[in-house]
Amino acid sequence: MQSKESLKKEALKNFSEYINSMKVRTLKNAGLAVIEDKREGASIWDITGERYIDCQTGSGIMNVGRHNKEIVRALKEALDTYDIGVFLWASRQKADLAKKLAEITPGDLKISLFGVGGGEAIDAALKLARGYTMRKEVIYTEKAYHGHTGFALSAIGKKAYREPFEPLIPGFKMVPFGDIDAIKNTITDDTAAVILEPVQGEGGIHIAPDGYLQEIRNICDQNETLLILDEIQTGFGRTGKMFASEHWGVVPDIMAVAKSLSGGIYPISATIFKEELNDFFLMNPFIHLSTFGGADLGCVVGLATIEFIQKNHLVEHAEEMGKRFRKGFDELLKAYPDFLLEVRQKGLMMGLQYTNESIGPRMSKKLADRNIMAIYTGNDPSVMRLMPPLVIRKEEVDYVLNALGESMQELSREKGIGLND
Ligand SMILES: Cc1ncc(COP(=O)(O)O)c(C=O)c1O
Repeated sequence: MQSKESLKKEALKNFSEYINSMKVRTLKNAGLAVIEDKREGASIWDITGERYIDCQTGSGIMNVGRHNKEIVRALKEALDTYDIGVFLWASRQKADLAKKLAEITPGDLKISLFGVGGGEAIDAALKLARGYTMRKEVIYTEKAYHGHTGFALSAIGKKAYREPFEPLIPGFKMVPFGDIDAIKNTITDDTAAVILEPVQGEGGIHIAPDGYLQEIRNICDQNETLLILDEIQTGFGRTGKMFASEHWGVVPDIMAVAKSLSGGIYPISATIFKEELNDFFLMNPFIHLSTFGGADLGCVVGLATIEFIQKNHLVEHAEEMGKRFRKGFDELLKAYPDFLLEVRQKGLMMGLQYTNESIGPRMSKKLADRNIMAIYTGNDPSVMRLMPPLVIRKEEVDYVLNALGESMQELSREKGIGLND
């Protein structure tokens, strides 16, 4: 029988050869060349048996925990009878999940259009906004991240992702995140939608300043422009509310959700919108199709995931564990001002702003040495994102905090690290 070490070596070699060698090299440098094997709660086990606490979770896919047994059971039961289903037919599973989403989303959001992934949900939101308003322009924010599909990519705030593929979809205008005047100065009577994340994830955990979303809501109303909120990372309890927009009491016209709706078990996404916007799809019911979008199995899993979150009070738990983290962060801020400039946090959506970009990767390595998986955000390497499963326990929170402290202490002893390094 092959040893576990040689299984791991083989997996990394094949991944490198047949998928992407740069990826493997980067992961090895960061100490994160883990081959996930067993998964449970807030932990994963490398194929060699080494256990890690997962603070990355695919940027927030695993709100209900890794390999959640109840969700797995729901899928297994569904598999006894169902398959993916046919996207053209009506289905009980789709109807049940859409009804549940209407119940738990804020205000009068009601109608669901299902997809497979987040980018697809954003594409559908932007197509709906353009189709319904018959306007062309879209306002998006600097550092925004909405996915790599066509419309979503056109609204992404990082040039490096966009530039090789230009020209992208015309009419997209970027404004700084948090700047109301910029929106006022950019909006025209041809603006279909303003799109943003209530808390920017890949952008580096930037939280909408108080009053910002409310102001945008008012400006959109005055201009008959639609407000699209991307809750793909922030949704389903992550920030200590079921949806982050609830922190500010703002109801968008269209909301996109994905990631954690999958329970980490079966991919599914949804674009949820107000009933009046449905006029567009009622006139054109087959204008936006997705063969695997809202698969019957995915809908069963989505429903089971929401029920698990509600039954286990994970929204409240995220808030409580977030507070526990905050206490520890405040101590770290005092003890290591040379490394840690600021911590931005809503519930269990947490960003450690380091003093420079070189610290992020070095901290990843130090944390991996202490059995914690964590990396910097996609659009800002100076910010380490921590998004553990919402089921994380107190002892695990303390373990992560302790590892952060030890890692910073070790870094501070190493030569060449300082404020201006
Ligand atoms: C806020 C946000 N929107 C959209 C997406 C795109 O989702 P997907 O990768 O499933 O297409 C992501 C993915 O990280 C995201 O974080």
